Amino acid sequence: MKQDMIVILDLGSERNTEIARAVRALGVYSEIHPHDITAEKLASLPNVKGLIVNGGPNHIVDGKEIFVSDEIYGAGIPVLAVAHDAAKTGEKIAQWPDKEEDICAVLKPFLFDTCKAEANWNMKNFVADQIELVKQQVGEKKVLLALSGGVDSSVVAALLIKAIGKNLTCVHVNHGLLRKGEPEQVVEVFRNQMNANLIYVDASDRFLGKLKDVSDPEQKRKIIGAEFIRVFEEEARKLEGIEFLAQGTIYPDIVESGTKTAKMVKSHHNVGGLPEDMQFKLVEPLYYLFKDEVRACGLELGLPDSMVYRQPFPGPGLGVRCLGAITRDRLEAVRESDAILREEFAAAGLDKKVWQYFTVVPDFKSVGVRDNARSFEYPVILRAVNTIDAMTASIEPLDWQVLNRITNRIIHEVKGVNRVCYDLTPKPTGTIEWE
Ligand code: XMP
Repeated sequence: MKQDMIVILDLGSERNTEIARAVRALGVYSEIHPHDITAEKLASLPNVKGLIVNGGPNHIVDGKEIFVSDEIYGAGIPVLAVAHDAAKTGEKIAQWPDKEEDICAVLKPFLFDTCKAEANWNMKNFVADQIELVKQQVGEKKVLLALSGGVDSSVVAALLIKAIGKNLTCVHVNHGLLRKGEPEQVVEVFRNQMNANLIYVDASDRFLGKLKDVSDPEQKRKIIGAEFIRVFEEEARKLEGIEFLAQGTIYPDIVESGTKTAKMVKSHHNVGGLPEDMQFKLVEPLYYLFKDEVRACGLELGLPDSMVYRQPFPGPGLGVRCLGAITRDRLEAVRESDAILREEFAAAGLDKKVWQYFTVVPDFKSVGVRDNARSFEYPVILRAVNTIDAMTASIEPLDWQVLNRITNRIIHEVKGVNRVCYDLTPKPTGTIEWE
């Protein structure tokens, strides 16, 4: 293994991730593990040079005090205890300072003098270590991956192709609600360029059939989610000898879905949503990475920028942007107008500046004129928002010229559209998506 590691034991401090990132910023790889990690598990982690026992407000969980066992303190690894009453530990500080540079001042002597850790964390080493770990975990066995084309699953695919080659089978389900060019890019990058074992399933008709006449947004989401698992399962059952399921779980997914000490923010589709009767072991090589690190990992593995810097895209895809009951003509209008918006944002340099931008097509028409005659066609709504955590969002004040150019292209190039509107609503009261 190429990297040294610091393990942070989670006693419910809200600052665990901040500390993990501060350790990494000093060049040492770090992982956060549950406070009740066993000595055996700790010993199985590669190159652990030090432990940080990070206390916090959830020190009492469900009425019970939680603590780190004597066995862990006795494991012979240097311990830094913070905001934690532990007489057994070597170094102890009352609490973390507020400023980043002061946190570094606390960490530096611990990492480099006490633990003698080396600052050898970088993406090249991370990738090399993960390839090694995956090989150890999987051996000659076969692994299955649902490859959506999103950043996380794409990075997992690229990493596993390097680690186990054809023993990885990727399944890309096209539910017919993807953006223009997306399924083609997945096939091009993974099958043609990376030579992956890729099963491409065009299930568009099947999904659109199930969604016919369904106008309730929640119902639409449920149908798309359930059908997705069904199609994936059908493909999985056709394959033989699969023992492992790879997932693009990343650290924020774990935190949002609730750890032993953190409350659940929202259930995440990567965690816990597995088909129950399918007995797979999990391979999750990005488990300890933050989003920006996942992108860096993707670049290190040679994925194209357009895949690595892809904006967030909801699982139900364009299905929640084609409002009400989905029809093929309006779905096409969403897809084409979205492609124009993305092109124009890229041309104006806005793709790097705006967090999420897309188009929406409602299920009503308005009167207009085209070629000196009355038209009765759909509007397209533009949405462009900035946010830190998607819980609240503000509107990007777009340049008038850019808005004009986008509008002109949409009304002339997208069939069945005679009007363009710009949504000025922040979240709250709007959500980012319309459904
Ligand atoms: P809302 O519309 O709730 O969206 O303000 C917040 C962010 O979440 C994305 N989103 C989803 N992502 N599965 C996902 O993976 C979903 O079902 C889903 N619904 C919304 C949305 O695009 C925005 O970035």
